[in-house]
Amino acid sequence: MNDLDDLALVERNDPEDYLGRVESFGDQIRDARERAGALDELPSAEGVNSIAVLGMGGSGISGDVARAILGGPSPIFFQTLKGYDLPGWVGENSLIFAMSYSGNTEETLATFEEARRRGARVVIVSTGGQITEWGREFGLPVVEIPSGLQPRAALGYLSVPILIVCSRMGLTPDLGQQIHEAAALLDQRASEWGRGAPSEKNPTKQLATRLFGKLPIVYGTEGLAEVAAYRWKCQFNEVSKVPAWSNSFPELNHNEVVGWKEVAALTREHLGLVVLRHAGEHRRNAKRVAATLPAIQGNLAFAEEIWGEGTSALATLFDLVCFGDYVATYLALGQGVDPSEVEIIGRIKKQLAG
Ligand code: PA5
Repeated sequence: MNDLDDLALVERNDPEDYLGRVESFGDQIRDARERAGALDELPSAEGVNSIAVLGMGGSGISGDVARAILGGPSPIFFQTLKGYDLPGWVGENSLIFAMSYSGNTEETLATFEEARRRGARVVIVSTGGQITEWGREFGLPVVEIPSGLQPRAALGYLSVPILIVCSRMGLTPDLGQQIHEAAALLDQRASEWGRGAPSEKNPTKQLATRLFGKLPIVYGTEGLAEVAAYRWKCQFNEVSKVPAWSNSFPELNHNEVVGWKEVAALTREHLGLVVLRHAGEHRRNAKRVAATLPAIQGNLAFAEEIWGEGTSALATLFDLVCFGDYVATYLALGQGVDPSEVEIIGRIKKQLAG
């Protein structure tokens, strides 16, 4: 594995400076808050009974983040829709966020068109593309975010506007303090976990090193950590270019936990488990983790827990997400792989368009 403290080598393997995007996540959140705060026309909140976020991959996960923050406490039904079909409950009392970094993703364009046809109230977040053109044509609110990033490196630009718009529409309490805390915590993480923090003091470089040559499995407790675990899985796929999977407590106690038995020789050699936790998780899930890990860890190469910090839900969620973003990026760089490259995603899109 490449030496993660060799900064010249790290830079050589990272031509688009993906690591720099992770290190500046705090600034991105602040900029996203400004952009969404500057929208002058918002849909009416009257009668809104459901919120749906339309989007795929690096754009769609913004809906999972927003649902983890807003969906729990709110009486309004909240769902992320990742696909071509729009469920029957979407209608004129739905608030829709159409999220596409490029603005050209076919599944998102399809559900956007159908949501418009049903008279839903739509807000767009994008860098441009077809969806922005349509948004301008129909006079819809569009939060324009900077181009030139990988969609997955724009999670702050994609998720924070959903929070700000919901809060400005009065559908959720003000989230300004949570956003402020999250950005400050991520600034601090840039010095603790960024490239300048040497391996012996940097837990994200250490975990990337332990995962070198292994398949990562990420478990999270229901809610915030479950979303973070899914983000880790996707980052291991897209950034590190390795297979990975995620699951969550309590559900995994009812199925996946049984599966750590019959191929133990293989799993013991090749699979590393990370369990994402935080102080606010359900106390029964804490007991479930305590009962599960001793039962399965003998059949894994290693199992370890990562705890998110922060006093607010958003800061805790972004803290867990950010830890994983650093680990996946260091794993890519340790392998000598460009964290930004996702050629196969574009190739399949082109094939389908042709
Ligand atoms: O990371 C990626 O490039 C993908 O997951 C994209 O986000 C996904 O294909 C959707 O594209 P877009 O974000 O442009 O709508």
